[in-house]
Amino acid sequence: MPSIALEVEHAPEDVITSALDRFDKDRIAISFSGAEDVVLIDMAYKLVGTSFNVFTLDTGRLHAETYEFIEKVRDFYNVEIEVLSPDNWDVEELVREKGLFSFYKDGHTQCCGIRKIASLERKLADLDAWITGQRRDQGTTRLNVPQEQVDTAFSTRIHEITKFNPLASWVSSDVWTYIRKQDVPYNTLHDQGYKSIGCAPCTRPIADDEPERAGRWWWEQEDDKECGLHAQNLAQD
Ligand code: ADX
Ligand code: SF4
Repeated sequence: MPSIALEVEHAPEDVITSALDRFDKDRIAISFSGAEDVVLIDMAYKLVGTSFNVFTLDTGRLHAETYEFIEKVRDFYNVEIEVLSPDNWDVEELVREKGLFSFYKDGHTQCCGIRKIASLERKLADLDAWITGQRRDQGTTRLNVPQEQVDTAFSTRIHEITKFNPLASWVSSDVWTYIRKQDVPYNTLHDQGYKSIGCAPCTRPIADDEPERAGRWWWEQEDDKECGLHAQNLAQD
């Protein structure tokens, strides 16, 4: 299948099929953390069995429920999930200099940079494409997310990285309808009022009428709610 026509919205399964067809198996992976990503895994599993790769960025600060969820997904699909850890020297230096909760004082950028983005950079150096669960309706920073894009945040002059966002046009209820209908595993924190889930100290439950990502870095501005994984969303390109 040729590359995804940007002006047309495709079924997520078609985007996944196209992505997995066009890249060597070892050069593309699903980036897994939340409800959307298990939908991607479920779709990929139904399309190609276990012939796809999954990684997750373990920041060391995730909820116990999230670690249980990762294991549940691993067992449910019998799929390998590569769990990436941050560099211990960098974490130790940050904590030595600023303590364990520096992000409440001077913002999440430095801690996310060490605990998530460095691991992602390391992983993307070995990939040519990644698949994420980003959706346009998740917040103001994601309004223009396409189903396929060149990842300008992580590509270099000699190594282009393609980013697929198969669920770009889905809204939250599409995700949850799929999860219920297909009976796929989900993070039990969702039953406690959590919507978008990241690290434990930076995520809190929200009310039904709050924006989906209001519980993430709630002490910061709405238009700054990107940790760097999707820094491209903040760029004016
Ligand atoms: S974040 O940048 O604010 O943390 P969000 O939680 O909305 O992102 O998730 C959007 C997509 O980013 C997910 O569907 C997933 O593909 C990817 N992602 C987010 N967090 C992680 C993580 N810890 N490990 C791997 N992928 C992640
Ligand atoms: Fe650190 Fe919070 Fe970012 Fe997690 S979300 S890496 S704890 S700043």
